Amino acid sequence: MPNLLSMNNLENDTIMSLLERAGEFQRGERAPIDGTVVNLFFEPSTRTKMSFEMAEHHMGLAVLPFETAFSSILKGETLYDTVKTMEAIGVGAVIIRHEEEAYYQQLEGCNVAIINGGDGSGQHPTQSLLDLMTIYQEFGRIKGVHVTIVGDIAHSRVAKSNAAALKQLGAHVSFICPEEWSGDYESSEHLDDFIETTDVVMMLRVQHERHAVSALFSKENYHEQYGLTVEREKRMKDGAIIMHPAPINRGVEIADCLVECERSRIFKQMANGVFVRMAVLEYALKGRD
Ligand code: CP
Repeated sequence: MPNLLSMNNLENDTIMSLLERAGEFQRGERAPIDGTVVNLFFEPSTRTKMSFEMAEHHMGLAVLPFETAFSSILKGETLYDTVKTMEAIGVGAVIIRHEEEAYYQQLEGCNVAIINGGDGSGQHPTQSLLDLMTIYQEFGRIKGVHVTIVGDIAHSRVAKSNAAALKQLGAHVSFICPEEWSGDYESSEHLDDFIETTDVVMMLRVQHERHAVSALFSKENYHEQYGLTVEREKRMKDGAIIMHPAPINRGVEIADCLVECERSRIFKQMANGVFVRMAVLEYALKGRD
């Protein structure tokens, strides 16, 4: 049964096939499958959880409710035993968001499809796919598009998933962040050097819950140095777009008034998320050439 754990091991043909299928769902095609799925979210989520639920609803899948606060996880049950239980009762796929990076390594031996809804600072493959769909729809290609990813690269599963997939598909990727947040990536601290030439400015959320940002920056200071300010947006080239996976710290990584400006594709990304997740659910439940 195919899993979707990371963008690192997904071939270009598989990525493009998922994007194509997502486009078919967007144009109203119905999914010819049935099955039972469970959304296991151990970390907070609005977009990923709700858009999986919407995708499942559109596909007519049976969705078993699961609330961490009312599960035997609270009695110390392991993630492995929780997922094995889903398998035993006949669930076909589980969507998991978990704070532990690569949590899925402990699930080897579970005969149920696993879709990663985000693992700590590791990967967020369905976010990456919806970002790729948005870029592809905008430019008609991924190859050669210049994407500048700005913010907390080291802690961002969105940045890591997108960096792998975009480079593999031939995009030109630049990283802008404070030196402390660059992780393994070669980066610059100067967004101003890139703002006039990039096709996509992809802002990342400052992750207050994963580290003490306030020790490094005030909100105003961060916005001024690394944020998409009104002044910077004016210098973006014709046709360039703004993306952000959300949730957004308005006024920190992006000026409040730019969130819904003409260049912004932030809510388009969220809309695309439903169709991408339909394609991923079909891929996981059925497999697809
Ligand atoms: N983009 C994203 O993963 O949002 P949520 O944390 O709300 O799911």
